[in-house]
Order: sequence, then C-alpha cells, then structure tokens
Amino acid sequence: GQIGQSVFRSLILSAAKSPRIQAMAGRHGLKAGADRFVAGESLNDALNVLDRLHGEGMRTYVIALGEAVHTREGADAAARIYERLIPDVARNGQGTTFSIKLTHLGIEADRDLALRHARRIVSLAAEHSAFVRLDMEHSAVVDETLAIYRALRGDGLDNTGVVLQAYLHRSMDDLIGLLPLEPNIRVVKGAYLEPPGVALQRKTHVDVAYRQLVRTALTYAKFTAVATHDASAIRAAMADARKNDSDFEFQMLYGVGHALARQIVAHGHAVRICVPFGQDWFVYFTRRLAERPSNVLFVVRNLGRR
Ligand code: FDA
Repeated sequence: GQIGQSVFRSLILSAAKSPRIQAMAGRHGLKAGADRFVAGESLNDALNVLDRLHGEGMRTYVIALGEAVHTREGADAAARIYERLIPDVARNGQGTTFSIKLTHLGIEADRDLALRHARRIVSLAAEHSAFVRLDMEHSAVVDETLAIYRALRGDGLDNTGVVLQAYLHRSMDDLIGLLPLEPNIRVVKGAYLEPPGVALQRKTHVDVAYRQLVRTALTYAKFTAVATHDASAIRAAMADARKNDSDFEFQMLYGVGHALARQIVAHGHAVRICVPFGQDWFVYFTRRLAERPSNVLFVVRNLGRR
C-alpha cells in the first residue's frame, strides 16, 4: 500500500547513489532495461525515435541526459551538447522542443555560469523558433531555477517555460507568483526524494495536489503542459481545459504510457513525448524505476538473462 510504496521509492532512490550499483549498471549498459526509457546514447538514436513518434502523430521534446555537474568544464560540455543539438533537431521542422536541467549546466557550483549558459541556449533556440523548458529538480535548487526563469523572461526571451511539482508544499504559491509573467508551465507530480517539511509524502495527497495545481494552471497560465501518465488526472484536466478554453497539451515520458498517449491523440488532443538520450542515463533511469515497483523486477529479469 501507501507506506510500502514510499519505502520502496526511498530504497531505490538511495541505492542509486551507491558507486557499486552505478558500476554494475555501467557494465550492463542500456541493455539492463534502461533502453525502455532512453532513446540511446547518441543524438542519432534520439533522431530515430523522434521520427517514429512524429509518424504516430505525437509532438516531441528532447533532453540531453546529465545532471549534478559541479565543475566548470562539465557545465561547458553540457552547454556545447545543446549548441549542437538544437540546430540539428530544429532542422526536422516538426516543432520539437527542448528541456534543460540547470544542475547539468552547473547551477550548484556557479549560479551565474548556469544563467549564462541557459541564456545562450534559449537565445540560440529562439533563432530556430524553438522552445526550451527548464526542468525542475530537487528542492534545494527550486528558488534558483525560478530566479533564472524570471531572469530569462526579463531579458525578453519568451520561448522558455518552467516546471512546478505538485508534491512541494510551496508550488501553488509559486504558480500564483508567476502568473503576472503569463507563464508556460509544465505541471508534474514530482520525482525526487524530499523530506516531509518540504513535500507531501503520501501518494493520494500528491494526486489531490496535482489536480488542484493543474486546474489552477489551466485556468490562469498562458500555456499548461499536463505531464502525467495518470489516466484519471488526464480525464480531469480535459474537463477543466474545456471549461476554461485553455491552451494546453499533455506530456509523457518515452517508454511510459504509450497506449494512453495514442488514445489521447486519437481523441484529438496533443501529446508531447519527452525523448531523453545520452551517456549519463543512470540517474534518470533510477527515477523511472522508483515510480513503479514492477519496473525493478523487469530489470532484475533482464540481468538474469545475460
Ligand atoms: P503516477 O505515479 O500516479 O503514475 C500513473 C500511472 O502511470 C501508473 O499507475 C503507472 O501505470 C504509470 N507509470 C508512471 N510512471 C511509470 C514508470 N516509470 N514506469 C512504468 N509506468 C509508470 N518530475 C520532476 O520532478 N521534474 C520534472 O521536470 C519532470 N518532468 C517530467 C516531464 C514529463 C513529460 C513527465 C511525464 C514527467 C516528468 N516528471 C518530472 C516526473 C513526474 O514528477 C513523475 O515522477 C512521473 O510522471 C510519474 O508520475 P505520474 O504523474 O505519471 O503519476
């Protein structure tokens, strides 16, 4: 039940920090099951997946995997990936958008460096008429992520958006604070391990908070990305959006909820799929495992087969 599920999440998310487990994953590579959630290690892998999804009537966004970068060289390398990625992907003419993680751009080491990189990436995307969203990460970087979003918008860069996590106690206040900017907001439940002082702990409570945050965004934000695989939250959002004549889309992760995504597209609604690629897939992969206990059995079975 509820308690089992949250114990499971903290076990997986803590185990993922172990160097031994990371080394084991490295040996087995994407074949241990990560290829269900990650397009591949190269940009070409990502481009192939994008083509396939567009062929099914889906919208897409790309993220270059990587986070928790604490050196200037690491942050510069991440920025260079995006500088190559954006023109290469924009060429497909399919309206693919992008996401960046500010810890990938070194925000925990040097806030100004991350801001400079983000500004350059979002400006480059603007030249290609592309949109870049700042993903939201663990609670220690929420203030600075929102500050960088505001700084970019203050520079006149309107091709950017942010993410709010329903599990954080603060998120409704953050949403209300952002409304004067006419923001483009992705609403998610939240994927990190957070203490009770900061975040709701019970799944049923997060589900309720998610619906409230989505409804408020659909009513007042300029654009809302309803990012979830939760069918009942999706139905509720469709009803709210109809009532408010909202500008919105659904978003899902590559490898999760594909049948549901196809149904939504068949109903005439837009679904944008997150396509992650790159060599630093391990931490992303463990967050996907922590979201559903049966995913871990699936990986253990794959390891056993090799
Ligand atoms: P919930 O956990 O209730 O799942 C609903 C159903 O979906 C489950 O019953 C199951 O069937 C299926 N499902 C969900 N996850 C699965 C998985 N990993 N494997 C198999 N089935 C699964 N978080 C964050 O903190 N910052 C961010 O920037 C983002 N960005 C983001 C973008 C997009 C497009 C999505 C869809 C999600 C995120 N997230 C995120 C992750 C989000 O916070 C959350 O952890 C996951 O979306 C899982 O929660 P659901 O909303 O799907 O609901």
